Amino acid sequence: MPWVALLLAVGGVALLSAFLLLLYLASLVTSPKPLALSGAHVVVTGGSSGIGKSIAVECFKQGAFITLLARNESRLLEAKKEIEKYAVNDKQVVHCISVDVSKDYANVERVLKQAQEKLGPVDMLVNSAGTSVTGKFEDLNTKNFEELMSVNYLGSVYPTHAVITTMKERRMGRIVFVSSQAGQLGLFGYTAYSATKFALRGLAEALQMEVKPYNVYITVAYPPDTDTPGFAEESKTKLLETRLISEASPVCKPDHVARIIVKDATQGKFGSSVGTDGHMLNVITTGMSPMTSLGEALEAIICTGFFRLLSHYYTASFDNIVRRCMIQKEKSEKMD
Ligand SMILES: NC(=O)c1ccc[n+]([C@@H]2O[C@H](COP(=O)([O-])OP(=O)(O)OC[C@H]3O[C@@H](n4cnc5c(N)ncnc54)[C@H](OP(=O)(O)O)[C@@H]3O)[C@@H](O)[C@H]2O)c1
Repeated sequence: MPWVALLLAVGGVALLSAFLLLLYLASLVTSPKPLALSGAHVVVTGGSSGIGKSIAVECFKQGAFITLLARNESRLLEAKKEIEKYAVNDKQVVHCISVDVSKDYANVERVLKQAQEKLGPVDMLVNSAGTSVTGKFEDLNTKNFEELMSVNYLGSVYPTHAVITTMKERRMGRIVFVSSQAGQLGLFGYTAYSATKFALRGLAEALQMEVKPYNVYITVAYPPDTDTPGFAEESKTKLLETRLISEASPVCKPDHVARIIVKDATQGKFGSSVGTDGHMLNVITTGMSPMTSLGEALEAIICTGFFRLLSHYYTASFDNIVRRCMIQKEKSEKMD
């Protein structure tokens, strides 16, 4: 039957095309060699608290030497004592430097030079220093936008700039940018914060293309709400809409988030997400970002459409929350 032959021929061509596409993708995706943390020098900005401190603990447990950067000296010393409890050998050191990573690039460069003289070249830099301000766009002060961009964005650019040349010369290294799920999806109340976290992704993609031939790998971490002092502070002034939207996902423990970030960074994975929601968000917002495994590339190709469909449920329910809050507010204003 001619139509059977035609069907077989079409099927054969489709199978062959899929196989060739797979081979082509495999040739594009080169998995980096994992970075061993034993004896490595890891610098963590914002390492005196929350996610940064948990990342420092996780790296220390794996035998790394740590430099913590943050402003408040007594909190740095407290964190140092806490991290030192997890030593796996008696040579390990936790070095602390008080510095504002968002101001005076020359000073940031100087302290990182000092850290490298003490503990050797930086093998992994984790940019976790960050802060958040929530509020409706018109209620936020324009200074809030400047300050958040300065800490969350420039505070990651400066330390990275100070170590990247040595990493390229040594043909090894890892840089982590701690973004946020609010850096993948803009949410009510986060106009100032989200923009700074989206900015990190652009920086990371462009930088990854520049440094990949030098065996330097970038990771952008997108943590969900995480139980940290920073989160507790932010929660004090969170708008009702923002709080109700956030309640769609559970609050994570910083140690859990840190374990995932460290694992993904040592493996050279570009996007690092936590939990099922985080994973789905990562897949649908991947765009043309770098892939470090064939599995990741195939998952994006196969699942993006379905996950995008599911995402409409979330955006519709978030819009519904915002509308309900507005109606409620208008009603109570009329009553007053
Ligand atoms: N917690 C969450 O729910 C969540 C979710 C998604 C993303 N994130 C992101 O994860 C990162 C860590 O958040 P966290 O909740 O762990 O915060 P945190 O508990 O408030 O810790 C912030 C750390 O950054 C340091 N820091 C802040 N500004 C600095 C500056 N200008 N120079 C140097 N160090 C500075 C702080 O120390 P000093 O104040 O002493 O300088 C502290 O060590 C942030 O980038 C945040 O945006 C957090």
